[in-house]
Amino acid sequence: VTDTSNGLIALIREKGRISFAEFQALALYHAELGYYTSGRERSGWGGHYITSAQLDPAFGELWARGLEEIWRASGAPNRFFVVELGPGEGAFAASVLRGASSDLRSALSYVLVERSDVLRARQAVLLHGEADVSWASGLSEMTPHAAGCIIANEVLDNQPVHIVEQQGGSLVELNVEEQAGGLQGTWLPATPPLIDFLTRNGMERPEGRIEVHLAAEQLVRSAAAAIQTGALVFLDYGAEALELLSKPEGTLVCYSGQGVDDDPLDRPGEKDITSHANWTSVRAAVTAAGLEPSGPVPQREVLISLGLRDLMQAAKEEQERALQAGRGAEGFRAIARRQALATLAEPAGLGGMDVFAALKGIEAPPFLR
Ligand SMILES: C[S@@+](CC[C@H](N)C(=O)[O-])C[C@H]1O[C@@H](n2cnc3c(N)ncnc32)[C@H](O)[C@@H]1O
Repeated sequence: VTDTSNGLIALIREKGRISFAEFQALALYHAELGYYTSGRERSGWGGHYITSAQLDPAFGELWARGLEEIWRASGAPNRFFVVELGPGEGAFAASVLRGASSDLRSALSYVLVERSDVLRARQAVLLHGEADVSWASGLSEMTPHAAGCIIANEVLDNQPVHIVEQQGGSLVELNVEEQAGGLQGTWLPATPPLIDFLTRNGMERPEGRIEVHLAAEQLVRSAAAAIQTGALVFLDYGAEALELLSKPEGTLVCYSGQGVDDDPLDRPGEKDITSHANWTSVRAAVTAAGLEPSGPVPQREVLISLGLRDLMQAAKEEQERALQAGRGAEGFRAIARRQALATLAEPAGLGGMDVFAALKGIEAPPFLR
């Protein structure tokens, strides 16, 4: 057991029994010991998983076109804020800023919402020299921007969840406590806010395990309040409430240096803990905030609408040209790029992610419909 895990276990010993959501918030986001806040590299080729933006800059370049469409649908204002939540290593921001047309770039102010100082410093190195880039440590402290887009890739699935099951005819919630130097789960009667969440989302009689997304709902509400006009865009693995009900084991999984597992209480702070976004609850939260929900649409379809096939064709032609002319290295780079582009659209992989949007005072641009 590492110092990080021991530190978190000691903290929980002091706190006594806590909900799984409180445990997950500590394990991922405790200021020094959290999986994300400790500042170690989590995503990318040197980390535990890879995200779309890190696979190939094409992802951010295509999204720069999408953001341009949202900007135009907002009436092409002189100042347009793109607020990215949880930018990780900053790859998405870098490729959006580099891929933006000069029209969009002249209006664009890019805000990275990042609470880890270490990550912020790495993002600043990557974005060095880019104009109109700034940082905020939380959405709630932000004064609403007049026009913009709040965008988050794989952030909802990292929000702390409560875990509920139906046992012997009543709903119980997973709690976490320290025992003999390790962590152990205990089931207690589910509290009213959890029962209320299940009822609101048509999930009051689960057959198996259900994740309750109170923190994600709160994040969506803060995002809805952070702009006056524009769009929210959430890119994530997710499902509707009905589909989640049909997964008796729930959707929670962990990623670490040792691969994928389903034991979040083991080695806390050393693992990512994720679960599918609940689109039914996200839709209800944006609707209650007065926004127009749109989607989810599979990422594959969104990227194709934004021009993925043209990029694939261009990479194919570049490969042929380069190999015929004996420019081996460039030919191989084109082959690698073709593979990366295909992976972004692969239904069983990143292409199977969803894009969920919510419009505030604007029409949904065609690529989101
Ligand atoms: C799976 S990573 C994704 C990183 C990046 N978006 C990417 O695609 O490479 C999730 C990130 O979201 C951050 N995060 C989680 N909750 C957040 C919140 N409420 N506000 C801002 N960032 C958050 C985490 O710290 C983590 O860096």
